[in-house]
Amino acid sequence: MAGKRRGEGKLAGAAPEGLATALIHHPYVAPAGFDAIAPGVFKASTVLFENVAALRAHSWLEKASYSYGLHGTPTSFTLEARLATLEGGTHALLAPSGLAAVALVNQALLSSGDALVLPTNVYAPNRNHAVNDLARWGIAHRFYDPMDPASLEAALGPDTALVWMEAAGSVTLEFPDLRALVRLVRARAPQAVIAMDNTWGAGIAYDAFDLGPGPGEEGGPALGADLTIHALTKYPSGGGDMLMGSVVTRSKVLYERLALAHSRSGIGVGANDVEFVLRALPTIALRYAAQDAAARRIAAWATGRAEIARVLHPPTPGSPGHAHWASHCRAAAGLLTLEFDARYTGAQVDAFVDALRRFGIGWSWGGPMSLAVPYRPEALRGPGSAYRGGLVRLCIGLEDVGDLIADLEQALAVFGVRSPT
Ligand SMILES: Cc1ncc(COP(=O)(O)O)c(C=O)c1O
Repeated sequence: MAGKRRGEGKLAGAAPEGLATALIHHPYVAPAGFDAIAPGVFKASTVLFENVAALRAHSWLEKASYSYGLHGTPTSFTLEARLATLEGGTHALLAPSGLAAVALVNQALLSSGDALVLPTNVYAPNRNHAVNDLARWGIAHRFYDPMDPASLEAALGPDTALVWMEAAGSVTLEFPDLRALVRLVRARAPQAVIAMDNTWGAGIAYDAFDLGPGPGEEGGPALGADLTIHALTKYPSGGGDMLMGSVVTRSKVLYERLALAHSRSGIGVGANDVEFVLRALPTIALRYAAQDAAARRIAAWATGRAEIARVLHPPTPGSPGHAHWASHCRAAAGLLTLEFDARYTGAQVDAFVDALRRFGIGWSWGGPMSLAVPYRPEALRGPGSAYRGGLVRLCIGLEDVGDLIADLEQALAVFGVRSPT
């Protein structure tokens, strides 16, 4: 066992110890050698040391030993190792939510006078953090259109310390030419760290650290992000019932910068939540594939409907960046956004969502229940947005696809037109 041997060191001649003392310092230690499919769940704020020398010798950066509950237990180290494998990295850290992982990256890598660069379709709270908090701390931000590499080029400069990428983008699901964007950053701002929000790809759709050669290109050194964040809240947990995030990297130097900021910030995770993710991780590939297949069937049903102007869904031809998706990815998340015909009002689009019976109304995706959220394009992307009609993002769960299509079909009645299909 770790720590002093329990129950040892009774004082000679002392009175028998009380029951509470006996229970807290109980000498029984279960025999070593137990193994099972699920790793053990160790819960600790206090970590016990064998002796004072061991307490003094600990390192918060090395995962070869334990120091404090906040900095890791066998349970959290196990999840970190598995997440590094999932995403093709070598080092991982856990945070209490995906957004906490985003904030950790920003906090660890940015200083006053630096600039960070974000895509216009970045996860909105990431943008809000830059605009409201980082700006207050003297960190500038500039946005780029991820579908236009020239706009990224214009946003880069000698002050650029961090570039965020997200594929596909939040809600409108544009898939950028990631290889072109990464090459640009390496050429024009070699000092900048590239951070990928890998929540959509989940380590399954594409390799964020090694995007591979493009069509007609020779394979060369790995071209990809320097670090990823992942909202484990989504596919890794798979239940819609918890929050957690991770940061993964292949760089020991970056890991140490992140781990130091992590250890100073107090952003620990609870062992029960880690257990949830460890339990769900073995089935992530199966769930991701099932949700991908279901979303493709729904996208095929929606394509060409009279009420729907466009289906935003990277595997669907005509979706922004479809060709980039095809050249980077082997799968897709079960998310699609319906752009309704611009003749419908926002109130009609809201009524469509209200009429759905098998889709919950809610934000956080990746769980068993399908979800729908309406967005007004001008509120989402500002005036002059490329999107004209009301948007409804669908997150496809694990229900029978036929039931979901029947539900969407009946809800379309709110528009009062008969589709030609
Ligand atoms: C792309 C993306 N990144 C990050 C997050 C943040 O995850 P969390 O809800 O765990 O903070 C989300 C959540 O919706 C997301 O969609």
